[in-house]
Amino acid sequence: MAMIISNEELVPGIYVMKIEGNYKGHMGQFYMLRSGRNYPLLPRPISIYDIGDGGITFLYRVVGEGTRQLSLLQPGQELQLEGPFGNGFPQIEGSLALIGGGMGTAPLLLAAKHYQKSHVYLGFAQQAFGVEAFEAVASSVQVKVGGSIVEQVDPAGYTTIFACGPTPMLQALALKTACTSARLYISTERHMACGIGACLGCTIRTHAGNRRVCKEGPVFPVEEVQFDALHGV
Ligand code: FES
Repeated sequence: MAMIISNEELVPGIYVMKIEGNYKGHMGQFYMLRSGRNYPLLPRPISIYDIGDGGITFLYRVVGEGTRQLSLLQPGQELQLEGPFGNGFPQIEGSLALIGGGMGTAPLLLAAKHYQKSHVYLGFAQQAFGVEAFEAVASSVQVKVGGSIVEQVDPAGYTTIFACGPTPMLQALALKTACTSARLYISTERHMACGIGACLGCTIRTHAGNRRVCKEGPVFPVEEVQFDALHGV
């Protein structure tokens, strides 16, 4: 069990939780969180938002009972935490853009800390959140509320792009990047049960064959991704 240091609502329905301890993990990986030892719901996969200062931090949206239970936890209470899991973003050289939409901004903060010269593009449907955390570490941060953040990005200006967000945003970015030399890696989402590659419940079709999002992903090179397999997730 791990102890909660803080669990605050940033904007309605979106929380940032810090948990005490020295944890491992790198950009794009995730942990499985569950609110209590005997709680009957499956643990929830949540991307690492930040690591350091004696703890690990997760940014999450309340979307069901599991995350609602997480949101009720108070500092000093405990929860179950396992990880890190998954294949995150690769180590790269050259110029880098980080493009996140909504909750898809969460897995990019560690990348922004790791690559402080990266350019960050954050898009939100209605209300921005977590922007200050990026501004504290990145050399440039552009924010768009409403509309498409992809319109503000020129992929030809970058060697590599890391992206996470809604499937239509990722698809638009893939189209825009296709005629450039930029390498695009996207972080995908899927409902997960085990988180360790055992149940096959998170399997998606890719151009490289079937892949488990929790094990071979959640980050894939865009050329492997079949977007029709991601819609509706
Ligand atoms: Fe079980 Fe991925 S969640 S194999």
